Amino acid sequence: MSRVFVTTPIYYVNARPHVGHAYTTVNGDALTRWHRMCGDDVFFLTGTDHHGLKIQRAAEAAGQSPQEWGDEVAETFKTAFAALNVANDDFIKTSEPRHYASVQWLLRKVYDNGFIYKGTYSGIYCVSCEAYYDDSELLAGELCPIHKRPIEHVTEDNYFFKLSAFEDRLLEWLTASPDAIIPTTKRNEVLGFIRQGLRDFSISRTSISWGVPLPWDPEHVCYVWFDALTNYATAVGLGTDMERFEAWWPHVLHLIGKDIIRFHCVYWPAMLMAAGIAPPKVAVHGYLLIGGEKLSKTGLTQIYPADLAEEFGVDGIRYLLIREVPLGNDAEFSHEGLVARYNADLANNFGNLLTRVATVVAKKCGGITGAPRLDSPLRAVAEQALAGNQLAWNEIRPAEAVDATWRLIRETNAFLETNEPWKAEPGPAVEAVMADAVEACRIVVLLTNPIMPTICQRAWEGLGLAGRLDDQRLPAAAAWGSAPSGRTVVKGDPLFPRKAVAAKAS
Ligand code: ME8
Ligand code: MG
Repeated sequence: MSRVFVTTPIYYVNARPHVGHAYTTVNGDALTRWHRMCGDDVFFLTGTDHHGLKIQRAAEAAGQSPQEWGDEVAETFKTAFAALNVANDDFIKTSEPRHYASVQWLLRKVYDNGFIYKGTYSGIYCVSCEAYYDDSELLAGELCPIHKRPIEHVTEDNYFFKLSAFEDRLLEWLTASPDAIIPTTKRNEVLGFIRQGLRDFSISRTSISWGVPLPWDPEHVCYVWFDALTNYATAVGLGTDMERFEAWWPHVLHLIGKDIIRFHCVYWPAMLMAAGIAPPKVAVHGYLLIGGEKLSKTGLTQIYPADLAEEFGVDGIRYLLIREVPLGNDAEFSHEGLVARYNADLANNFGNLLTRVATVVAKKCGGITGAPRLDSPLRAVAEQALAGNQLAWNEIRPAEAVDATWRLIRETNAFLETNEPWKAEPGPAVEAVMADAVEACRIVVLLTNPIMPTICQRAWEGLGLAGRLDDQRLPAAAAWGSAPSGRTVVKGDPLFPRKAVAAKAS
């Protein structure tokens, strides 16, 4: 049994969750559901980021304390993720006492190791990014390159983290662990950034009080990134339960968007090194785009997960998030694209296969499925689908896992087209063809369960299979012919009713 510790970013509580947040969390959920089905020991963490100036300002604008405000917004994230059937093992809020304890432990360690010093900072800051910029990075009119909003000029006494001391160590780490940052394009971006030379960064503020006080100088509160990044370590007991921390930390994988790549792939590994802790593995993804623009809470391109779940179903939107924008590059997330993919992949392929199989078994086989043939042409295809899933999930490419399974769906549909069991007289020949098709469906449902757990459980029962699909163990359960025969197959309501395609305005 192996261990897997998967994290999502902790999302800022300055606004309600949008589809961009759902994207990372749903991908993490599917990945960890796959590992649970493989019998791995899994810890899946998501949560919210409560400190920082923009949150303090959002709370003030709402006439609430940052604590109250944050707690309320955090609930909207919990609700949104629960509505998407996300099975996280923990939800961390950086305003919790356990987090203060871990941040202070890490600060103390890094300070004692000589990597934190006091200085004065003067420069340009984007509050939406909670990050400093160089003049050269700004857009015309002194605008933040990500948020396209005005930046602020700040000067203050800060403590600094000696990031500049870690250039060589970071490069050595990335050379020794070529898979530490995936995909390779993002790894190369990080290497390029490190090679340009690293500057120390500020980790404290005196101008605000909402945050974790520095243990040796409580006039200062720890400023956003040092605090936020530590959430991952807090959740597994850094400084509070070191045995638990040691057990999980070597298995950590951070899923993040490319907006926060420097923090996760440069700052955080260096902070950990400064404390004598191993750096993490990071999988970086691109942006969901609407008309070429990043979908975001500061822009006008907000889409809420609940609205999409209402339209496509919870499992439908989980599938669409995972398949429409494969982890890695940016991609459009247009409504037309979603409808087209829903109809093609879910209504026509997946849904239609299960419906037609149940219909023919009812008509030609008395509703009972027999034993699949060991030399069925579908057997090799099913074995390839399993192997394709194993490879894809191990390499953290959920969309490719989908593709591996959808090949089996298409081949099974083609097998039925070739054999035309609906035209044949009832008897052993049709029973054999349909037993093969039912077995292929069983394996499709097993492999798709991490992505669409509710529909797959329904489909599992429709195939006459008992128990909870989540309790099936891979790869054994996906072995061809491993389920009992003589089961009653039931045709239920269509799993994915077709969507009407809006008429194009001419
Ligand atoms: O940055 N496409 O929080 P945040 C894909 N609190 N993913 C998107 C997205 C889009 N258009 N928009 C948002 C923060 N995301 C910090 C993180 S971690 C220690 C602290 C997702 O609320 C994606 O995962 O701005 C991105 O990295 C994250 O939301 C940023 O969320
Ligand atoms: Mg952001």
